[in-house]
Amino acid sequence: MMIDASMQGHGYGGEALDRVIDYIRTKPFGDSGRIALTCNKSNAIAKKLYESKGFPVTGVEDEDEVEMVLTIA
Ligand SMILES: CC(C)(COP(=O)(O)OP(=O)(O)OC[C@H]1O[C@@H](n2cnc3c(N)ncnc32)[C@H](O)[C@@H]1OP(=O)(O)O)[C@@H](O)C(=O)NCCC(=O)NCCS
Repeated sequence: MMIDASMQGHGYGGEALDRVIDYIRTKPFGDSGRIALTCNKSNAIAKKLYESKGFPVTGVEDEDEVEMVLTIA
């Protein structure tokens, strides 16, 4: 996800992520108990945002990307 640089830090990224999570909780792609994403390990701002939304790092890495997973009911 990407928010225009001039509009970062105004809450749009967090709000957009909340809406994506709410949508995926409706199981539009079938039954699943996890939402997974990857983030560049040096991207401290994005990593912090994802962690604050309940996505801890799993320990799985692919080159510079770390996997982060939110468990859903
Ligand atoms: C990551 C990104 C999507 C977040 O969007 P955003 O609209 O800036 O996010 P928010 O305004 O909801 O802020 C989320 C958190 O990031 C922090 N933050 C945002 N921009 C920041 C900056 N330039 N410096 C420090 N912290 C910043 C906010 O303070 C907030 O933390 P808080 O809740 O502890 O206050 C946005 O910074 C972005 O587009 N970055 C470039 C692309 C990118 O890295 N995408 C992610 C790829 S995995």
